[in-house]
Amino acid sequence: MGDPLRLGLIGFGNVGSGVVKALEENRELLAARCPRPLELRRIADIDLERRRPVTVDPKLLTTDAESVVRDPEIDVIIELIGGIEPARTLVETALAEGKSVVTANKAMLASHGPELLALAAEKGVRLLFEAAVGGGIPVVRALCESLAANKIERIQGILNGTSNYILSQMIYEEMSYEEALAEAQTLGYAEPDPTADVEGIDAANKIAILASLAFGFDIRYSDVYRVGISKLTRQDHKIAATEQYVIKPLATAEITEPGAVGISVQPAVVSISSPLATVGDVMNGIIIEGFPVGVVFLVGPGAGPEPTASAVLGDLMALSLLESDRAAPRPFLEIPVGKRPRITAECDCDGYWIRVFHRGGPDALAEIVCVLTEEHVPILKCIEEEREGDESGVSRVVVVLTDTALWEDIRCVVRRLGEAEWLEPDTSVLVMPRFD
Ligand SMILES: NC(=O)c1ccc[n+]([C@@H]2O[C@H](COP(=O)([O-])OP(=O)(O)OC[C@H]3O[C@@H](n4cnc5c(N)ncnc54)[C@H](OP(=O)(O)O)[C@@H]3O)[C@@H](O)[C@H]2O)c1
Repeated sequence: MGDPLRLGLIGFGNVGSGVVKALEENRELLAARCPRPLELRRIADIDLERRRPVTVDPKLLTTDAESVVRDPEIDVIIELIGGIEPARTLVETALAEGKSVVTANKAMLASHGPELLALAAEKGVRLLFEAAVGGGIPVVRALCESLAANKIERIQGILNGTSNYILSQMIYEEMSYEEALAEAQTLGYAEPDPTADVEGIDAANKIAILASLAFGFDIRYSDVYRVGISKLTRQDHKIAATEQYVIKPLATAEITEPGAVGISVQPAVVSISSPLATVGDVMNGIIIEGFPVGVVFLVGPGAGPEPTASAVLGDLMALSLLESDRAAPRPFLEIPVGKRPRITAECDCDGYWIRVFHRGGPDALAEIVCVLTEEHVPILKCIEEEREGDESGVSRVVVVLTDTALWEDIRCVVRRLGEAEWLEPDTSVLVMPRFD
């Protein structure tokens, strides 16, 4: 057995506690499988008094995270603070000190990952982040190792469990958006401030990381076209169901043409025959398409202390193996700093679902159709109903299913419809993704 791999944990919150608990509960299994035993030497957190689901030797604890990342007696830093600062500075310091880092921090990676990976390579250490995307789903290692021989063409996924839970409750329990959000908060799936989940920020961080790895471009969070789920109504789901669709929070990244990447997070109208339609509750699901593999579908728990701890421990075990011989080999996939693709919100889809509310009387539908026709957007079907919840009985909902169309033309339609006085706010455009 080699020398212990001495671990310093910064951030003893939900995931940090999950990691400490799993290190303890799987101690024998880990000892048998790791060439260098994993030894937790120090833990830093701002608040050391808070009750946690695990007890640790108080001698391990400190409030000074910087002293942990600079400690010469620590080999590997586990960063579970979250957020961009001070996490980024602490990770940078650890890498500069020649320590490998394991992190679950998608926000930091989606904004500063390429520079941090470059620093790790320069220092001959590793920055591993399986836990940053998909919780317990081994998607990062699948892309970086098992699928590294592939030309990846497209990634589509449900990458945020909270949004998926809210939409699933709206579909299957007939809840309103507000009721489903309140339930998610009661169950601890959603934060008191749910913005990062319901406005697609969390999923945008994750798809930026996956797209960078899969396509070998420097793609950041700010590149992702993003629409949240908070404007969807119960009636949207009912209409979708009658047409054999479900509405899912979908993250997509694809090569649209050589050197161009379409990347977005938005609610999408998914055919019930798609594998992603079966991903309910708080689960995550990811479809990866590439050559020569074809289509791979990964599904599993996308968050929670235990699934996330599984991913963190997997990275620590990989380090135990890699660092049994300190020469860190070059990873198969890298994210080159500054190698930028042309970024677009466009994706290769089967069409669009445009939902508007109007008070325009009997001619409104004809006017909507006229705008679509003038903007060269082919129409597959129009559905018009009374708007649910409108006590005046005047307001109507129109859903137009289109065939494939240029994203620019769809934007023109939305802009022109927005000029109509009889149209109410909250027009939604959902993509209808293509599944091969
Ligand atoms: N929760 C999940 O299911 C999940 C899943 C996948 C990935 N992740 C990622 O995992 C990371 C941790 O998430 P979490 O849910 O465990 O968050 P959390 O419960 O808020 O834990 C973060 C901990 O770090 C502490 N902290 C903040 N700033 C610090 C500093 N400067 N020095 C030392 N400690 C500091 C916090 O203390 P205070 O609370 O006192 O500020 C808190 O105890 C995030 O990057 C998150 O995106 C989480």
